[in-house]
Amino acid sequence: MPFTKRTTLTQYLIEQRRRFPSASGDFNALILDVAMACKAIAKGVAYGELGGVLGNHAGGESINVQGETQKKLDVLSHNLFVRLNQWAGHLAGMASEEEAEPIDIPVEYPRGKYLLVFDPLDGSSNIDVNVSVGSIFSILRAPDRADTPIPESAFLQPGSKQVAAGYAIYGPTTMLVLTVGNGVAGFTLDPVLGEFMLTHPKLEVPADTQEFAINASNSRFWEAPVARYVKECLAGKTGPRGKDFNMRWIASMVAEAHRILMRGGVFMYPRDTKDPSKAGRLRLLYEANPIGMLMEQAGGRGSTGEVPVLDVEPTSLHQRIGLVFGSKNEVERIERYHREPAPDISDSGDTPLFSARSLFRD
Ligand code: AHG
Ligand code: MN
Ligand code: MN
Repeated sequence: MPFTKRTTLTQYLIEQRRRFPSASGDFNALILDVAMACKAIAKGVAYGELGGVLGNHAGGESINVQGETQKKLDVLSHNLFVRLNQWAGHLAGMASEEEAEPIDIPVEYPRGKYLLVFDPLDGSSNIDVNVSVGSIFSILRAPDRADTPIPESAFLQPGSKQVAAGYAIYGPTTMLVLTVGNGVAGFTLDPVLGEFMLTHPKLEVPADTQEFAINASNSRFWEAPVARYVKECLAGKTGPRGKDFNMRWIASMVAEAHRILMRGGVFMYPRDTKDPSKAGRLRLLYEANPIGMLMEQAGGRGSTGEVPVLDVEPTSLHQRIGLVFGSKNEVERIERYHREPAPDISDSGDTPLFSARSLFRD
């Protein structure tokens, strides 16, 4: 097997670092610690029922800050991320989907200059049915003088300030997909060597697509621009788009992002009217921003539906946001629909579907 000819994650990081001759190596060591956490989670996920890791944590009694029931693997993954990243001296603090407050570095360890924000297990509703899940992470610089304990305000930086972002996907193979601000690279875990090997050196999202992903059970809550976009896709060849679309919904954003990085597509979890107290379903700091950075670095686009997601100034650690990402031309179209006055898309009465066809043409 020609694995020795492949570039390892460590080699890739060293080669990337050569662009910054004065870099200390802390950043690379941090990424390797994150990768270690992902490998440990991959192992837990792979054992499934055999490892006794499926099902709810604490008999379903444990609810996280999102108001969601924690799975055993949510908690296990969170603990692995914390334990494997707190000791090395690269971080000034962490924040996790599974913990309401920022996580401090224990006093016995040195503090470093970065912040790590993560969703330890994304798509965890899929764990028990053996569908792909993943871990998402975002790395920010800590403010120069970060107080102890690390305040929430240290984390409230727009996504454009991320120095790195990525995810691990635990699917048929485990992969790590990473950007350090110089494109997007994909690594496949060699389960025998325990090494992430560079298998996808330059992931690029095609600008056009015929595939979209949205949870259609929310359609009655969609705002007009989203309803219009989906309706046009569904109308297919004879509709205003003049082509047929395919639809996917895995309910693991990380798996949808991965599909889109591999072959294009558009993902939408837009703001809707289901619960007016929530600006969307997904969380800005550890879901939308890292995926947004990956998309932008791969030539795609990440948006709230209206503006680039990376421009949003966060207001709280667990803030939710509408999220649309993927193939650039589709995301830009959805943004345009938000700017344009809503056309009448009702198909009641005798009016043929999309009778105002010309209105929808570019
Ligand atoms: P998490 O498991 O980290 O809470 O995130 C789940 C998210 C995301 O992965 C997915 O796209 C979405 O929730 C699925 O939502 P629906 O259940 O509404 O389809
Ligand atoms: Mn998630
Ligand atoms: Mn999660």
